[in-house]
Amino acid sequence: MTGDPRMKPAVGETPEWEAAYRRTRRSIPKRKKRLSFFDWPDRTVKILDLGSGDGLDLQALREMGYQNVIAFDASSHLLSNVTGTRVVGDAHFPPFDSNSLDVVLANSVLHHFDFPEMVGEVARILKPGGCFCFMEPRPSFPRQLLDVLTMSDLAGRLVPYFKHRKEGLLEEYEVHYRWLDLYPSVESLLDQNGFRSQKVLLTMVGVFAQWKLEPPPHSGTTG
Ligand SMILES: C[S@@+](CC[C@H](N)C(=O)[O-])C[C@H]1O[C@@H](n2cnc3c(N)ncnc32)[C@H](O)[C@@H]1O
Repeated sequence: MTGDPRMKPAVGETPEWEAAYRRTRRSIPKRKKRLSFFDWPDRTVKILDLGSGDGLDLQALREMGYQNVIAFDASSHLLSNVTGTRVVGDAHFPPFDSNSLDVVLANSVLHHFDFPEMVGEVARILKPGGCFCFMEPRPSFPRQLLDVLTMSDLAGRLVPYFKHRKEGLLEEYEVHYRWLDLYPSVESLLDQNGFRSQKVLLTMVGVFAQWKLEPPPHSGTTG
């Protein structure tokens, strides 16, 4: 593992957040089903799992036959559970060569980042034609309802899921709502950075999206 001296402290490193994170979203079969939404050319693609946490998507991807996956996260503690290639760092300064990756995968992490600041870095490290794939929250009425239930003490007493979700949501409250506010501009930010939409699925509370980095226009002479 390597570190980056510019790294800022990341959301997701407090013991409370980590305990809440470890109680939710653990199912590998569910992750495989979600990941199968994406269309990648073949099983040899080089994938960066941006904000990989403790490597559950990496495990799911391996079971799906993808062996060339890098786990990248700000938390060395979460990464210590990952077997395989793992890199500690800040997504705003990803320590990867330009044009070096086929896929950048972001599962429930973009809301942790300053998206306008880091989207250009995703474009830099992807190969032309490479894919930026993400699964993130989106503003919707069912999400509003979910968040209201999550914050309700009564719902938390009746259904442990809400209680655990509340611990995580409180920890990342500010970034969660900052992302939902930014969401209407995400498409144009991707567009400005050279991405074209390939596939989108709107779920009741989130979005699955695959954007392709367009090769730069030819600069050679004509005629
Ligand atoms: C909600 S978790 C998602 C983890 C994983 N993708 C998953 O699906 O289980 C968000 C992750 O983003 C990481 N993170 C937060 N800020 C980061 C940053 N600036 N750079 C890299 N990782 C960051 C946290 O350490 C945490 O592991």
